[in-house]
Amino acid sequence: MRKPFIAGNWKMHTTISDAINLANGIKRELVDFNKADILLCPPFTALSSVSEVIMDTNIKLGAQNIAWEKEGAYTGEISSIMLKDCGCKFAIIGHSERRKYFGESDETVNRRIKAALLGGLTPIVCVGETLEERESDLTIKVITGQLEGGVGNLSEEEAKKIIIAYEPVWAIGTGKTAAPHQAQEIHEFIRGWISDKISSECARLLRILYGGSVKPANIRELMKEEDIDGGLVGGASLKVESFVEIVKNSI
Ligand code: PGA
Repeated sequence: MRKPFIAGNWKMHTTISDAINLANGIKRELVDFNKADILLCPPFTALSSVSEVIMDTNIKLGAQNIAWEKEGAYTGEISSIMLKDCGCKFAIIGHSERRKYFGESDETVNRRIKAALLGGLTPIVCVGETLEERESDLTIKVITGQLEGGVGNLSEEEAKKIIIAYEPVWAIGTGKTAAPHQAQEIHEFIRGWISDKISSECARLLRILYGGSVKPANIRELMKEEDIDGGLVGGASLKVESFVEIVKNSI
């Protein structure tokens, strides 16, 4: 059985004090909760402060991006060493917003994944199709390309350390969740692809999260699907109540 995994992606929200309050609220409600893995991904500026809040709890810390080099003349980038220094254990890589607004490509996704793995961080690799791609029947082609380019050259040992998040772009921040069977279809495809390309053992262990308008009201149905192992939550992770309810409803 794969343990449920709920990650809150705070995106470009929260000042340091907002982040401390949010993390404290979540900690108060979930401090003894161990039936799901819980991850908070605040903005870089709040990582250290949130790390202090959740120290000595099961709640884990992640970044929303990671540089592909360890150090050097890369203005504006944050490396695995720096992230670990802030208490991070995870890094979201290839989120559709980074692909859309910041020129992220499958190649840079792959480089960031390698850097995360080398630095001892767990990459949460995002894939997903746009509405236009879905309507043109290109979903499988797009996901295959993203998997091939992003994780296709990982060894089995490396692939066993990653998490994949399927986030249909049309469902992110729109209030339109993929129907559980629609998400399941793609999750099953992703697991099958990993099984073919890497190994069936790796596919069996791999946690695949769904992201895109996850809410307390829909996580239960999503989690009933065989290949959905958790959620990557944006908007609803910014309120203590809704995030805590999502975590509780995920088990
Ligand atoms: P959303 O965002 O829950 O606000 O749709 C999800 C994400 O982008 O990770």
